Amino acid sequence: MDDDALTIIDERTESSYDVPLLDGGALRAMDLRKIKTRSEDFGLMSYDPAFMNTASCRSAITFIDGDKGILRYRGYPIEELAEKCGFLEVAYLILFGELPTAQELDAWVRDITRHTMLHETTKKFLEGFSLQAHPMGMFISTVAALSTIYPDARNVLNPESRQLQVRRLIGKVPTIAAYTYRHSLGYPYVYPDNELSYSANFMNMLWRMVEPRYQANPVIARALDVLFILHADHEQNCSTNTMRAVGSSQADPFVCTAAAAAALSGPLHGGANEQVLKMLDEIGSKDRVPAYVDKVKAGHGKLMGFGHRVYKNYDPRARIIKQTADSVFKITGGNPKLEIALELERVALEDEYFVSRKLYPNVDFYSGIIYQAMGIPTEMFTVMFAIPRTVGWLAQWQEMIEDPEQKIARPRQIYVGHGKREFVSIEKRSSHAVAA
Ligand code: ACO
Repeated sequence: MDDDALTIIDERTESSYDVPLLDGGALRAMDLRKIKTRSEDFGLMSYDPAFMNTASCRSAITFIDGDKGILRYRGYPIEELAEKCGFLEVAYLILFGELPTAQELDAWVRDITRHTMLHETTKKFLEGFSLQAHPMGMFISTVAALSTIYPDARNVLNPESRQLQVRRLIGKVPTIAAYTYRHSLGYPYVYPDNELSYSANFMNMLWRMVEPRYQANPVIARALDVLFILHADHEQNCSTNTMRAVGSSQADPFVCTAAAAAALSGPLHGGANEQVLKMLDEIGSKDRVPAYVDKVKAGHGKLMGFGHRVYKNYDPRARIIKQTADSVFKITGGNPKLEIALELERVALEDEYFVSRKLYPNVDFYSGIIYQAMGIPTEMFTVMFAIPRTVGWLAQWQEMIEDPEQKIARPRQIYVGHGKREFVSIEKRSSHAVAA
């Protein structure tokens, strides 16, 4: 039999179907529809809650081998990109498919920095939030609000318009992120300084006070660049899937990015970095690690920053983040939480529960410890994730729009509710205590 096809025998009807295999390993779910017991049947569907084994697209952006712990953007290993590139260089690679020449990179950096300013009304919009508002809630809403400032962004089928919105979003997300931070503190917003690199300018917008020009520490700026590179894309994760799903209705990229950021904010996804720090605080000291691990094994909570749908090996990003932590701690002084985190990793990786389930530290396990050492508050951690991930979301959104096979994303369901029922008038209904 052909390696590129599968023969399915339906024992109910004794019919046989040849089903082609896509790219050597996937069958098209629509081919299952041919499998019927009677001609008027709907045909077979696949059932896959949480997309455990369903590819929703063919993508050329990011490759992950979760068993081997491999991550590549456009074919380049993450380790090399993190060591040798700047963030905007990697952003260019992710978006356009190739590493830029020096000239292309200059033009690209110029393009992005042209778009770092926010419309003044956006500041007023942010002022409406309470000082206690979570920065991620402010970030999501403000990104969505940009859609009202750039109505031309609705022109999603126009490649030039798409390019403009991509530049706007990548330029503006650090400014929005920094403004949410300044807002929480009641500090005045700091305008972007376009002479600085992407990361150094972000530091400027976070931390400049009365000095005429912000001097970014180059080690911290480089560490931020590395963290941004590591977070830039991760194929079809929950937030990227959201970006594609919302984008498939041809909504504009600002609201799509806001929706993706909303998906990122959950504690099982990008919100995990915030939860890791809360967990380390709760553990409190190294000697209390074994008791905490026992509690998790007994079913009380999860080890935040551990486990991954795709990685069943050490997350390569976690390894690079650990190395980056050393350079940051030389400048900032250590973070006592690191000791607890290292002990937690050691205990978990020797424990049968975590070993048998292939649960390893993921990207979120160490990132928060570095951010905290830099002076970034815990509530900002997921916003720090959203800044670089905007690049991945936009690249995936573009790929989706340009893919002739993609249509509005609309899954099927298996209906398990009532069959047709007789209507009951209100005076004859009995209470089922469904509503409070
Ligand atoms: N701590 C303890 N046990 C865990 C953990 C964890 N962090 N993660 C998974 N498990 C257990 C599950 O309870 C399950 O055990 P069982 O087989 O006895 O039922 C088994 O490992 C398999 O886990 P699933 O929940 O089926 O794995 P899934 O792929 O659905 O979930 C997820 C992946 C959501 C990341 C999960 O590992 C988790 O909740 N981790 C903690 C949150 C976290 O760190 N999220 C960030 C992920 S990285 C990112 O999104 C940027």
